[in-house]
Amino acid sequence: MENLLEIKNLKVDFFVNKKLVPVIDGVSFCINKDEVLVLAGESGSGKTLSALSITKILPHNAIITSGSIKFSGSDLLVMDEKQLVDIRGREIAYIFQEPTSYLNPVFTIGDQITEVIMLHQNKNKESAIEEAKELLSLVKIKEPKRVLFDYPHQLSGGMNQRVFLAMALACRPRLLIADEPTTALDVTIEAQILQLLLELKKTMGFSLLFITHNLSIAKRIANRICIMHKGKIVEEGSVEKIFDAPEHFHTRELINAYEKIGKL
Ligand SMILES: Nc1ncnc2c1ncn2[C@@H]1O[C@H](COP(=O)(O)OP(=O)(O)OP(=O)(O)O)[C@@H](O)[C@H]1O
Ligand SMILES: [Mg+2]
Repeated sequence: MENLLEIKNLKVDFFVNKKLVPVIDGVSFCINKDEVLVLAGESGSGKTLSALSITKILPHNAIITSGSIKFSGSDLLVMDEKQLVDIRGREIAYIFQEPTSYLNPVFTIGDQITEVIMLHQNKNKESAIEEAKELLSLVKIKEPKRVLFDYPHQLSGGMNQRVFLAMALACRPRLLIADEPTTALDVTIEAQILQLLLELKKTMGFSLLFITHNLSIAKRIANRICIMHKGKIVEEGSVEKIFDAPEHFHTRELINAYEKIGKL
């Protein structure tokens, strides 16, 4: 299987009160082409920071102290800012939990999508608008023409997540990183967005790194699961292995917690 992303021995520290505090402690995992890799684990285990390390968009007081992050064979951690700018958005795109906070409230959806398109692709305003309409249809927004003139506050959380996804996919990235993209949505909308993500993955051919603390989502969508705990990956395996034969104490604990509330 072709390896798209390979993270080896990633360590990240935070500067807090003039001291270095380790938060990612030797994380290694890979994502194969066309794969859905789920990074699961409790709150604070280091899922988001691992994802942000990939294109070096960490908070200013975080320092990557060791490791390599190879994307298509090139180490992202030794690239300069100019090279990384080319990778961000174009090759590796993100969606996050609260789309509304990443969309600008004072610009229309159309303005924001066309800006992304014009920034990354050499297109004039007119063809960017056409492309924006196509992208909105791709994420199954029913009236793309109308939505182009809407402001984010006029749309529901689910619609804004679709818009955010359309922007992330504008450059046909090879890797989409989705960090708890459905956590703020109700279960019906969550199911629709998950299905959409899997459909688009198939038709557009990107690999998906999906981050969640929700094991029932992990079970539904993953090809492979990595379980994180206190800055380390404590277990990795197929859905069957993780759920039918969990080896690590912490994995069993997470599964038990879910089984108790009847969510698996
Ligand atoms: N800006 C920061 N300064 C200091 N420590 C931080 C900062 N951001 C995150 N941390 C710490 O780093 C650790 C990992 O955080 P991270 O956001 O990656 O967790 P997570 O697994 O994504 O959690 P959640 O499920 O709540 O999103 C946590 O212990 C957190 O407190
Ligand atoms: Mg997080």
